[in-house]
Amino acid sequence: MSQAKIHRLVILASGEGSNFAGITQACQDGRLPASVVALITDNAQAPAISKAQNLKVERVEVLSPLKFPRREDWDQSLAELLVSLKPDWILLAGFLKKIGPKVLSLFSGRTINIHPSLLPKHGGPGMYGDAIYKAVLESGDKETGITIHQIDHDYDRGQILEQIRIPVRSDDTVATLKSRVRAAEVDFYVSVLAQILANGDKPFQSRD
Ligand code: GRF
Repeated sequence: MSQAKIHRLVILASGEGSNFAGITQACQDGRLPASVVALITDNAQAPAISKAQNLKVERVEVLSPLKFPRREDWDQSLAELLVSLKPDWILLAGFLKKIGPKVLSLFSGRTINIHPSLLPKHGGPGMYGDAIYKAVLESGDKETGITIHQIDHDYDRGQILEQIRIPVRSDDTVATLKSRVRAAEVDFYVSVLAQILANGDKPFQSRD
C-alpha cells in the first residue's frame, strides 16, 4: 500500500505567530498530513520565532528587508530560499511584507493567506491589525469573518478559497471583536488546509 503524502509547508509570519503555531501543532499531532519545514519571517523580533523554537521547527529564517535596499533583491532572496525548501504550499500567517513577482511566478497557485475580514471588504494596503476591526465597526456591518485566499499581485485580492462569517455585536469594541475573530482563526485555517491537502498536489488554477 502506498504511503499518504506528507506535504511540505513553509509558513511566513511577521508577528505573534498564533496561526503559525496552531498549524504546526496540527501537523505534529497528525490532524494535517503535512510538516512545517520552515518559518520565514521579515522581523527579527517576531514572537513567532520563539514559538518555532519551542515547537522544534527545523528551519527558522529571518529575511530582514533592511538588508535589501532594493525590493527586487529581497524578492529574489526569498524566492531562492523558498526554492531550496521545496515547499508544496506556502502559507502566509500575518506576514506584512508584500510578496513580489518572482515568488508569485515560481509558486503560482500554491501561496495562501488568511485575512480577518470578509474580503474584499476591509482588505488592501494598511489593513492589518486593529485597523481591520476598527474599519468593520465604523462601517456598521452586522457581520464580519475570516477569509482564506490565494496570494496574487495585489494585497488581499487573490482568489477567495473559503470564508466564515462571524457576527458583529452592537456593543462590540475593537478588542471584543478582535478576540472573537482571532479565537476562530486557527481552527478555520487548519480545516481549510485539511480540505486543500485532501485534494492532492494540485495547485489552484488562476481565474484569469
Ligand atoms: C491574523 O489575524 C491573521 O488573520 C492576519 O494577521 C494576524 C496574524 O496573527 N493576517 P498571528 O501572528 O498568527 O498571531
